[in-house]
Amino acid sequence: MQDKLNEIEKAALTALAEVNDPAMVEAWRVTHLGRSSELMGVFSGLGKLSKEERPVIGQAANRVKVALEAALEEKAAAVKQAALAKSLAEEKLDVTLPGRNKHVGRLHPSTQQLRRVLSILAEMGFQVFTSREVETDEYNFQHLNFPPHHPARDMQDTFFIEAEGRGDNPILMRTHTSPGQIHAMRYFAATDPSNPPPIRIALPGMCFRYEQITARSEVQFNQVEGLAVGKNITFADLKGTIADFVRRMFGEGARLRFRASYFPFTEPSAEVDVECFVCGGKGCQVCKNSGWLEILGCGMVHPNVLIAGGYDPKVYSGYAWGMGPERQLMLRNKVGDIRYFWGNDVRFLEQF
Ligand code: DAH
Repeated sequence: MQDKLNEIEKAALTALAEVNDPAMVEAWRVTHLGRSSELMGVFSGLGKLSKEERPVIGQAANRVKVALEAALEEKAAAVKQAALAKSLAEEKLDVTLPGRNKHVGRLHPSTQQLRRVLSILAEMGFQVFTSREVETDEYNFQHLNFPPHHPARDMQDTFFIEAEGRGDNPILMRTHTSPGQIHAMRYFAATDPSNPPPIRIALPGMCFRYEQITARSEVQFNQVEGLAVGKNITFADLKGTIADFVRRMFGEGARLRFRASYFPFTEPSAEVDVECFVCGGKGCQVCKNSGWLEILGCGMVHPNVLIAGGYDPKVYSGYAWGMGPERQLMLRNKVGDIRYFWGNDVRFLEQF
């Protein structure tokens, strides 16, 4: 029995010398120290031995077990160390390699400009009110004082979505943010129909027009509509508000002018120009030699529009405007082509 134990030990140690990776370490452990190993067989056979032999063989078997366990531990450590040394030698880290640039995203220039406009307006007391992009003819035109066949509709070529069976009220993509005026007035009027509250809001959002895409016109663009409705609001309030906005947006020294114009939903109506940033008013290509750049349309809310919104024009008056953030950016940063905005070219977008 003693000889057999010596043999077991010798065979195990010989086999261990060949072991050189973690999988082999585990396989060796199962074979030589596992439950069905020869050595464990000696332990389970102890009961069959004579009383004299049992402690002697028991001790000897134990000594072999302890010796093999110690050898295993040493081997496992050596294998681990070798694996580490190997990976250190092979997987060299070249700290001189240039790093990979992380591409950091940013807000779209239109969003940035929208936020500038809205934060200026917020300082001036205008609350944001958003409304839908898909509209009906009623909201986009009729309530804004464009009757069904009014020629002023030609100013805005329209994407229609559903016309069949809807008579004079097809579903369409809004061509301007002005229908938001009706939604807002009706919303506020509903809170107290006999005495509707005053309104001072900004209506931002995307508008859509069926246009040929050129350097100067796109099929989609943002607008920011302004609307103030209350008692005793006059054209002087409109002028003061627009002048204040222009100075906050384009600088203290920015000069502006009001020009008489026409919109069905305002009376009187005006367009506002700022002095050309590029030539300082002397006349250049950008301002087409006029010295002025148009930035918005505005006017006093037409009585029919107030009525459509639930506000009695004998008691209430109001002003409104509509302006384009992309247009402002083009003027401010001399962007020569509106198609850059939705062209998804990062070389353009990352300049903002
Ligand atoms: N809705 C007009 C447009 O898209 C812009 C506009 C002009 C809005 C005058 C207004 C306004 O509220 O008073 O061209």
